[in-house]
Amino acid sequence: MAPEPGPFFNPQKQNMLKRIAPLLIALLFTSPFLSAQKRIGNETAEQKQKRMEWWTQDRFGMFIHWGLYALPARHEWVKNHERLTNADYEKYFKLFNPDLFDPAAWAKKAKAAGMRYAVLTTKHHEGFNLFDSQFTDYKATNTPAKRDLVKEFVEAFRAEGIKVGFYYSLIDWHHPDYTIDEVHPQRPLVDSDSAYARLNKGRDMAIYRKYLYNEVTELLTKYGKIDILWLDFSFPGKYGKGRDDWGSVDLMKQIRKLQPGIIVDNRLDLNDYADGVDFETPEQVSPKELEKYRGKTWETCQTFSGSWGYYRDENTWKTHRQLLDLLITSVSNGGNLLLNVGPTARGEFDSRASHALDSLSHWMHANDKSIYGCTYAPAAFKVPENTKLTYNPVTKRLYVHLFEYPSGRLVLPGYKGKIKYAQFLNDDSELKYKPDPANPDDLVLELPEKKPDYEIPVVELVTEYK
Ligand code: GLC
Repeated sequence: MAPEPGPFFNPQKQNMLKRIAPLLIALLFTSPFLSAQKRIGNETAEQKQKRMEWWTQDRFGMFIHWGLYALPARHEWVKNHERLTNADYEKYFKLFNPDLFDPAAWAKKAKAAGMRYAVLTTKHHEGFNLFDSQFTDYKATNTPAKRDLVKEFVEAFRAEGIKVGFYYSLIDWHHPDYTIDEVHPQRPLVDSDSAYARLNKGRDMAIYRKYLYNEVTELLTKYGKIDILWLDFSFPGKYGKGRDDWGSVDLMKQIRKLQPGIIVDNRLDLNDYADGVDFETPEQVSPKELEKYRGKTWETCQTFSGSWGYYRDENTWKTHRQLLDLLITSVSNGGNLLLNVGPTARGEFDSRASHALDSLSHWMHANDKSIYGCTYAPAAFKVPENTKLTYNPVTKRLYVHLFEYPSGRLVLPGYKGKIKYAQFLNDDSELKYKPDPANPDDLVLELPEKKPDYEIPVVELVTEYK
């Protein structure tokens, strides 16, 4: 006789458990915790740190958005915004003639501004190649420019000792096999499966995927050592695109194979792979928002104005102070700044961009020690009022950025016994200090009445003689 089921035995529940057990196991194996262990290669954490070392030291780079969209001069997304067809866009291809293009002059400007790496759009979403590819005719060599502009960029920037990076758009609004999605210029007016099916008849992403793979391969084999690859961007979803569309895993394997030292951004939709991302890319965020990236590996990319490509009539340009704030705040939270220039269709930085870069040059010439090799300050140093701190862990110097110039005195809260010497960074002139009679743990730094000739002057505090 079968035993009487006990009070806790419920056959219905048991059956259900049996049924959902495989589901529970499957869930466990795909949980974010376990899937974070997925890997594409087998680089160790130490090897990765070594590979990323120069980048985390250099902190400041130039982004360059340049393509056919410089001609309409009203945003690099103009093809999308105005739903232009390839035929509408053809005039820009026919007329692209950057007669003033002088990459050596760009490189000199970048170097003077203290930028130590540069990332150029080899192809943006419009699909036009600034380089000479054997896989397309839609390239600079077939415009009145008649030459490989990427090659000239690489040579000029390398000659100035600036590291070289390639931006390459995963998205392509020109390729005939690239399927129409929600951000494509020819997207339907109303989203529906049937509308997309109709528009995509005859298009084959497998062909585009191969093209993308081939072009990235060309970029990583024809131009010597490439330091950064900035792929842009994934937008998974019903009418979007992600890793399967790009073939991201295979692409990443190929990238690592061809250029083992290269640093790759986070826009391939590989976030759940332990080695699918080298750095995060908070775009156009405010200095305040950068605080939450502390402890991660990241680079914020920012424009001078609202657009990445040259935009003649866009006039909301960031001020010198705002640009400095972005640079200092990035470093004071352990990150990099990639600051964008959108050259004109004639191939020049316009006067607004040139002026902004010149102002940065003035500041960086005197104050770059508070940027290179620096990161956030140890917790033992409180942030004095109206300042932001950076710290160089090798030289053990602390940098106090004076956002509001306090004429006369600055209180360094709780700094007693923690510093050995103080000076202005721009001229190494001594700044005297003494304990605050009101609170002997604090130090009071004596500052001249007149603010040094820098928008944000920097005090350098020596915490150890090294
Ligand atoms: C966005 C935009 C693009 C720009 C990029 C830079 O993804 O689509 O125009 O190139 O940001 O981060």
